[in-house]
Amino acid sequence: MTSQTRPRTQRVLSSAYMHWAKTQSAAPFNLATSGVRHYTLERLGVSLSDLELSGASFYGYPPLQQAIAAKCGVSIDSVVAANGTSMANFLALAALVAPGDEILVEQPTYELIISAALYLGAEVKRFARPAASQFRLDASEVERAITPRTRLVVVTNLHNPSNAYADDETLGQIGDIAARAGARVLVDEVYLDAAFARAPRTAYHLGEHFITTSSLTKVYGLSGLRCGWILAAPALAERMWRLNDLFGVSQPHAAERLSCLAFERLPEIAADSRALLERNRALANNFLATRKDLESFPITDGMISFPRLLTGDVDALCALLREKYETSLVPGSFFEMPAHFRLSIGGETEMLSGGLQRLGAALDEIKGTRK
Ligand SMILES: Cc1ncc(COP(=O)(O)O)c(C=O)c1O
Repeated sequence: MTSQTRPRTQRVLSSAYMHWAKTQSAAPFNLATSGVRHYTLERLGVSLSDLELSGASFYGYPPLQQAIAAKCGVSIDSVVAANGTSMANFLALAALVAPGDEILVEQPTYELIISAALYLGAEVKRFARPAASQFRLDASEVERAITPRTRLVVVTNLHNPSNAYADDETLGQIGDIAARAGARVLVDEVYLDAAFARAPRTAYHLGEHFITTSSLTKVYGLSGLRCGWILAAPALAERMWRLNDLFGVSQPHAAERLSCLAFERLPEIAADSRALLERNRALANNFLATRKDLESFPITDGMISFPRLLTGDVDALCALLREKYETSLVPGSFFEMPAHFRLSIGGETEMLSGGLQRLGAALDEIKGTRK
């Protein structure tokens, strides 16, 4: 067993990536953000009479529970409200994984999934989503890595960091493999709605052993509302609500009220994000097509890309961008792939355009300094 395939078990008490994101990622040309630019309070058209400070929302605020259930096409007893997809993932993992349980997580993945699982005492095994196949989710990789001890398989869809889309057929195959091993499948769908043209459906519909998480944060630019949720079979959802009692009483009620308003306007907010991302994808794809020093593939869904720097050092590139060009990217080392970087295209088009010019200049500069 190599160090790559050996399960990780050490307890972790922090996330290096989240600390970096909170302290280092901001920049005038921010290509490290993980969502579309913020939707404003003004555009939500809120009046004070829409808000209240406290309300009866112990196991979710019923109108918000209803709005989430209607959006996802599920019954209300399958919906567990959570503070963003972050807490949704944590709560789902905490309800599904006991210390010592083996879980199987895609590689690369969103770092917080690994940190949270290790914090909970899970034994984390990995299966590959190889760069060579454009990070496609491949059920045979899960089949190869799953064992009778596996309790949970975890994937992101769209994939963070690569943006790759997994269809229902592939997820269904993974569900079958997991079910045969007595395991469940957790799908983090925080980016899924950004595959606008596919009109995607949550994987929760694929069967009782699927659990999904999402939020209004990334695709709708509503990160500040912290409106997240888990979809789980009702008995499991009830278990998650009861576990959530350990973490607090309820969500801030004003945010719940604002989230209800956001759901009323969701088609309009989605159309706005879609128009922004279509413009930005065209810009980013033109840029990526001209760069012979990067290996990448066109961005067709979502808002991120995970190019590989063909020669040179990504950390040096990121440092140069930060120090000289006021531009930030996420170093691939946070995704266990240090030759890559994550480029986010969800910002305002003008900012993205400036950031890409700067990225081009920095890439030219490091090429010039190479012997
Ligand atoms: C795959 C994935 N899941 C969850 C999150 C956290 O989402 P939220 O802001 O809704 O808590 C992120 C944030 O970048 C993410 O990329």
